[in-house]
Amino acid sequence: MTAFQRCINPDCGKTFGIEEIHHACPACGELLDVDYDWSQLSPPKSLAHFEAYWSQRSNLHRLSGVWRFHELLPFLPLEKCVTIGEGQTFLQNAQRVAPYVGVRSGRLFLQYEGMNPSGSFKDNGMSAAFSHGFFVGAKRAACASTGNTSASLAIYAACTNLMQAVVFIGSGKIAYGKLSQALDYGAKTIQIQGDFDDAMARVQQVSKQLDIYLVNSVNPFRLEGQKTIMFRVLESMNWDVPDWIVVPGGNLGNSSSFGKAFIELFRLGLINKVPRLAVINAAGANTLYRLYEQGHHGQKLRWNDGHYDKNLAAQFFAQMDAEGRKASTIASAIEINRPVNLSKCLRALDFCNGVVREVSEQEILDAKAQVGAGGLGCEPASAASVAGARKLVQEGVIGKDERVVCILTGHQLKDPNATVAYHGTSAEFFEETLGKRGVKTAEFANKPISVENDLSKIIRVLR
Ligand code: F0G
Repeated sequence: MTAFQRCINPDCGKTFGIEEIHHACPACGELLDVDYDWSQLSPPKSLAHFEAYWSQRSNLHRLSGVWRFHELLPFLPLEKCVTIGEGQTFLQNAQRVAPYVGVRSGRLFLQYEGMNPSGSFKDNGMSAAFSHGFFVGAKRAACASTGNTSASLAIYAACTNLMQAVVFIGSGKIAYGKLSQALDYGAKTIQIQGDFDDAMARVQQVSKQLDIYLVNSVNPFRLEGQKTIMFRVLESMNWDVPDWIVVPGGNLGNSSSFGKAFIELFRLGLINKVPRLAVINAAGANTLYRLYEQGHHGQKLRWNDGHYDKNLAAQFFAQMDAEGRKASTIASAIEINRPVNLSKCLRALDFCNGVVREVSEQEILDAKAQVGAGGLGCEPASAASVAGARKLVQEGVIGKDERVVCILTGHQLKDPNATVAYHGTSAEFFEETLGKRGVKTAEFANKPISVENDLSKIIRVLR
């Protein structure tokens, strides 16, 4: 067996076959990894190995930004891997945004995952989980979502017709761009009264009872696909490792998978340096920041070789429930208070000498406007990475000469309301969308100019 599933708890470490379906270790309840017996496989000797595939773009598996790295996620034979053209994404040298973040020109890079078929990074992981679900014979696949996972599952189901999609969303908690995708692609869409954390708890129960394949990031195959975001970053940097990877943190799937990618690349001798990882929470959904940086009852939660303090996390969540504290942020994609990948993220932070920060709604919106003015644009959650990088430069944690990669996780058009509220002229819409969340100003707004339908007046404005 060259690929298997393995419990990440070092005191358990139980393994399971690739054909089994688990959302947690049946023995101890911890999360599972997909793991490989590399000695039985032939992983590449250098990352430049993958350059040979650049000339094979008529082969869909080589075109895919996920499956061209198949040798680093070989849990299924390549011919069984599903692709809809994911991962054709771009690393922008963001010269126009660098001054805002505060690093020297040429040192800030934005990895634009909005170019995926469904407009977010989720397609990287969905291609892998969807492949596994079909491989194990599932007829239906389900997820809870703040919108992007559901759009991604829905598009894979619609494009391939291999499984049906069932998506669970919190009512009123999803940006219209994302909801419209799930509906348009024909997913069975269940809106439950509650938020993402509620939907996540329910979908786990429902998928178990009805034997529906779950594609949320508790599914370890999802995270295998998301490793390739880092492979493409390295590819774009000519296989040079940057100093920092900065990523928004919601359910903590990305940060967990990035950590796993670097652990594996390092152990395989494919990189000799590890970037530092910064995970950025929205202040209104800041579980990781509180546990990792502020500490709970004076204790900061650490991976501790896999012996992290489970009681500390449990006490934290119990207090959160007792206080009735719910996640709340304009960055609805990361409006999550119970990140399911917390333990794996701790492992990633440990390996990558990581830091966690929280950013305010104002900081997110201002950073988003700067990213937009720089050309690519992104949804609010994605801008948290740029806002977080700026904060870390101001603190002196990130040096001005360091090479910083921020992950733009989702497309600008996912959430036009936030954008129009920021730039628009309606004070009412601003107040309703942003003001009541504590956003006071729109310093970088590009306001539309209203002019009468009169040629001379229009000309006067443009002169
Ligand atoms: N950015 C965007 C645009 C997202 O959609 C998400 C998560 C994240 C960041 C956070 O990533 O969970 O890996 O830490 N969206 C999920 C969803 C929860 O349902 O679409 P994470």
